[in-house]
Amino acid sequence: MPKTPKISAAVRRKLETVAVNVMKNAHAPYSNFHVGAAILLTNGKIFSGCNVENASYGMTNCAERTAIFSAVAQLGPKIEIRAVAVANDHGVACSPCGACRQVIYEFGPDATVFFQGTHGPKRAHITELLPEGFRLQ
Ligand code: THU
Repeated sequence: MPKTPKISAAVRRKLETVAVNVMKNAHAPYSNFHVGAAILLTNGKIFSGCNVENASYGMTNCAERTAIFSAVAQLGPKIEIRAVAVANDHGVACSPCGACRQVIYEFGPDATVFFQGTHGPKRAHITELLPEGFRLQ
């Protein structure tokens, strides 16, 4: 059974607010789907990111990975992700994509993820979203 760290309602709301705010910076002229993500680290710091698309569509970076890479760039590779919140401007279901799940798992094998599910707001442990995540160590 995964050990899920307790995230208070206030911290969850804070993460969701940060995710909504950073969504405004998205570069999404191709999909017109603006996404924001906020990550809470085990040291209490919060980082945010938005999706950044490209005319060469495959070069697109999702909001979740932007937030994580930003945290690594600022603090180095020893960061540990405790929670992730994702927001989108269409109010539709939007869980992290497969690639982002693997990146979340790299830095947060015990992370809680908050996102819009098909039946409303959801929380899930990263291993529910990504069973058998890949690790080299
Ligand atoms: N996208 C994210 O940034 N995060 C998600 O969780 C789902 C999808 C972005 C990628 C692309 O820019 C747009 O949403 C449409 O797929």
